[in-house]
Amino acid sequence: MFTAVITGTGAYLPSRIVTNKELESVVATSDEWIISRTGIRERRIAAPEEATSDLAYYAAVGALEQAGLEAVNIDAIIVATVTPDMLFPSTACILQARLGASKAVAFDLSAACTGFIYGLELARTAIFAGSWQHVLVVGAETLSRIVDWEDRNTCVLFGDGAGAAVVSRAMATDEVTAPHAKNIMARILGVHLGSDGSQGEVLTLPAGGSRRPATADSVLSRQHFVHMNGPEVYKFAVRIVGEAADALLSKLGLAYGDIDYFIPHQANLRIIEGFAKRMKLPLSKIPINVEKYGNVSSGSIPIALHEFAPMFQPGQKIMLIGFGGGLTWGACLLEW
Ligand code: UT7
Repeated sequence: MFTAVITGTGAYLPSRIVTNKELESVVATSDEWIISRTGIRERRIAAPEEATSDLAYYAAVGALEQAGLEAVNIDAIIVATVTPDMLFPSTACILQARLGASKAVAFDLSAACTGFIYGLELARTAIFAGSWQHVLVVGAETLSRIVDWEDRNTCVLFGDGAGAAVVSRAMATDEVTAPHAKNIMARILGVHLGSDGSQGEVLTLPAGGSRRPATADSVLSRQHFVHMNGPEVYKFAVRIVGEAADALLSKLGLAYGDIDYFIPHQANLRIIEGFAKRMKLPLSKIPINVEKYGNVSSGSIPIALHEFAPMFQPGQKIMLIGFGGGLTWGACLLEW
């Protein structure tokens, strides 16, 4: 019987750090407001010549290296992103060419901040079905290119970055059966996903698609930037993090006490603290890095997974929880 395991992770953050203080000269904001409302202290911003596929490339190279794989061993590349290099070809195809992953099918996935977890589930089910043996799942964003730097409600929240994981086929006994992979980091025990398109208008990028193609007017009226109803997204987030975790735990017959660490999407410290409070979880069970990177959308969870992996011990259970535009949400349970 096959099972899906993570055999490598990687992350890449652009080197340029933009502090809250620096943003004070861009919009009418303050370090104090940003920290108290979001917990964010700084974020990374891509260099002008860097696009999403460049960030994805460096994260992918790290994940492949850790998995002990050459790019030609990869059967599929899934890039979760809301900031593709261009509408088409997909960022995944651009990444495939740069990696030299000639055997891989490659496509992008649009599920906003939940995209990485959607990608893990696609990889997991395709591995069960026998379609693929090694899948590279990437969450990569250059959100600095789609935020309105004149809108203080949104521009202070987001950052650029990428994270990646290699998902490989193993036996239920934990032996990796897919050729070439060296080690198992974690088994994927289960995933729960959800969407609610009826509420999608609270977080959108209105123009540039077929509904509102780019025109001089769409540019002038700033329709090519992120538009967000912050308080509505906030309410949704606080509710859905707990609901997604509950749904996955009940699917797997587990309780909160069985989970060693929770890694929620790093959008806002207050959302994370609200979840901890509602579920009576100590903050020591929730590794947090939002203060360093801000909200990196689909990149947030794989970056955190890679960054916090060294602290996880064999046998520990780690739950990833995503939520975001669409609306979408999802939870994934890993056993280290
Ligand atoms: O990845 C998923 C996507 N997004 C999220 O998860 C974000 C979810 N939402 C949030 O995190 C919060 O709603 C925000 C952090 C975006 C905003 O926090 P809030 O406590 O809900 O503030 P608010 O939107 O209700 O605004 C409160 C005040 C307003 O002023 P008035 O109207 O009360 O005078 C805003 O204009 O804060 C003002 N404000 C700011 N002030 C200084 C909004 N942005 C800023 C800013 N600096 N950057």
